[in-house]
Amino acid sequence: MKIILLGAPGAGKGTVAKLLSEIDGSVQISTGDILRAAVKAGSELGKEAKGYMDRGDLVPDSLIMKIMEARLQEPDCEKGFIMDGFPRTIPQAEELKSLLQKLSISLDFVVNLEVPRDVILDRLTTRRTCSNPACQEIYNIKSNPPNPDGTCKKCGSPVIQRDDETEEAILHRLETYNAKTAPLIGFYEKEGLLRSFRSLESKKTVEEIVKTLEA
Ligand code: AP5
Repeated sequence: MKIILLGAPGAGKGTVAKLLSEIDGSVQISTGDILRAAVKAGSELGKEAKGYMDRGDLVPDSLIMKIMEARLQEPDCEKGFIMDGFPRTIPQAEELKSLLQKLSISLDFVVNLEVPRDVILDRLTTRRTCSNPACQEIYNIKSNPPNPDGTCKKCGSPVIQRDDETEEAILHRLETYNAKTAPLIGFYEKEGLLRSFRSLESKKTVEEIVKTLEA
């Protein structure tokens, strides 16, 4: 499959992307995961991105496009990909359109995950994430807890709260989403690529996405 996942912070993009990638081996490309791994590694990219991320601001488009142009040309993308958290602004969506044309890649469609704001706020304050940059498994202390000793069920590393999970940063991320990312819904509607799913149960959403792909 070749799809984009759109949705507010906490809508469940990462959770749905991981489930979808298990179906046919399509690779999950999360710009958030790539940036968090760069921050942890202390690379130049990570140093530049950290301040933006901790505040809940978007990282500049030029940095993200450089990452994505290289990432989409890696061999594991040939089988299929699920873009999680990219594109995030109209300029990113426009540049992606040209990039896909240049690489002769056509998307199946763009999934918009619709989740009520109160559910989102609850999910973000209860989320926990594996601290191992190569794993980054997502947990939730209510709906999907890690091991009782606070370690990851997949790799055994400590499970932590992200640096952008303070109440202030969460509210700012939601404002940033409304101002900069929500306009992509209209953009992809005009392109005829948008498919919206009310998403309260991730497994059910995944089944609906697969049915839509098969139709
Ligand atoms: P990113 O990592 O993409 O964060 P986000 O979009 O804010 O999304 P989240 O990861 O917070 O949420 P999600 O929708 O993946 O939800 P999840 O599955 O975890 O980006 C982080 C930062 O990086 C940005 O703020 C920005 O600075 C930068 N960045 C990234 N991409 C960029 C770009 N393209 N341009 C510029 N800057 C960029 O689920 C949330 C919680 O809910 C979890 O605990 C999960 O277990 C739980 N949950 C999920 N589904 C369900 C369910 N159905 N029922 C119960 N619980 C559920």
